Amino acid sequence: MLRKALSAAAVLACLTFGGAASAAEHGHTLRPVTFSFDGPFGKFDRGSLQRGYKVYAEVCSSCHGMNLLSYRNLAQKGGPFFDEKYKNPNDNPYAKAIAAAIEVPDIDPDTGDAITRPATPADRFKDPYPNEPAARAGNGGALPPDLSVIAKAREGGAHYIYSLLTGYHEAPAGLTVAPGQYYDEYYKSDLSSAWKGPKDKVPPGGVLAMSFQLTPDRVAFDDGTPSSTDQEAKDVAAFLAWAAEPHAEERKETGLAVMIYLLIFAGITYLSYRRIWKNVAH
Ligand code: HEC
Repeated sequence: MLRKALSAAAVLACLTFGGAASAAEHGHTLRPVTFSFDGPFGKFDRGSLQRGYKVYAEVCSSCHGMNLLSYRNLAQKGGPFFDEKYKNPNDNPYAKAIAAAIEVPDIDPDTGDAITRPATPADRFKDPYPNEPAARAGNGGALPPDLSVIAKAREGGAHYIYSLLTGYHEAPAGLTVAPGQYYDEYYKSDLSSAWKGPKDKVPPGGVLAMSFQLTPDRVAFDDGTPSSTDQEAKDVAAFLAWAAEPHAEERKETGLAVMIYLLIFAGITYLSYRRIWKNVAH
């Protein structure tokens, strides 16, 4: 009995701390940060998601698309701008206003000419570049990845993105950094050929074509939260985590309900087992 209880506790502990552990496994230990959505019972913080969207819209969206998202998704249940009053996200005034301020390319239905028009909530997030060669040309040959599911695609998820965005600093002495490349303590690239120091002391991190993007007050937050670099990085990382798994909260809630159901069911099964076998010697 005791052993069973202990193993159940161990399973629960793994579920609870799994997120933190996987963040630490990422080569160089990531910067410590806690997100409201960490762990099996975590929830997204709406304020943080709204600020994170603003950081994406004002900073990241000039290079990175988020092609899997439509403006309406911002106002769906669980999204940054969800409002009970507007069950249909297409009617949500925030989603409408955000979309209307963005010009998207389209085709004139009468003439067939290429035109631009204000976006609607049903439109996908606008891509910053018309195609991949244009994106590479604008970034010294490197391709800024689409950020729709980047939080799922990188080990450490939001924890990694937070560390990456705040991990820029001067390259360690002995490391040659080519023009148009920037050293980041948490990016992963092979530094051995650019490293002039002892072979067994290659510094952690890597060089990438994205320069540091976030500086204090780069984005003015509507809710008055002071916009330090850390805050901006944390909020945009949270927004990207939501975007990569918008139904994470529902999944966790269902998981909990299923666990409770199974526990009750196990209890009932045990009691009926006792009852059925009550008068039988075994
Ligand atoms: C000026 C253009 C530009 C802006 C603005 C920009 N990025 Fe990037 N980003 C890039 C490029 C280019 C790369 C690819 C770098 C490479 O492959 O060397 C990149 C790569 C990334 C990566 C992938 C790193 C990896 O592990 O592969 C993430 C995550 C990222 N950017 C997030 C962001 C976020 C979040 C913002 C906004 C705060 C942002 N970027 C703003 C150009 C930009």
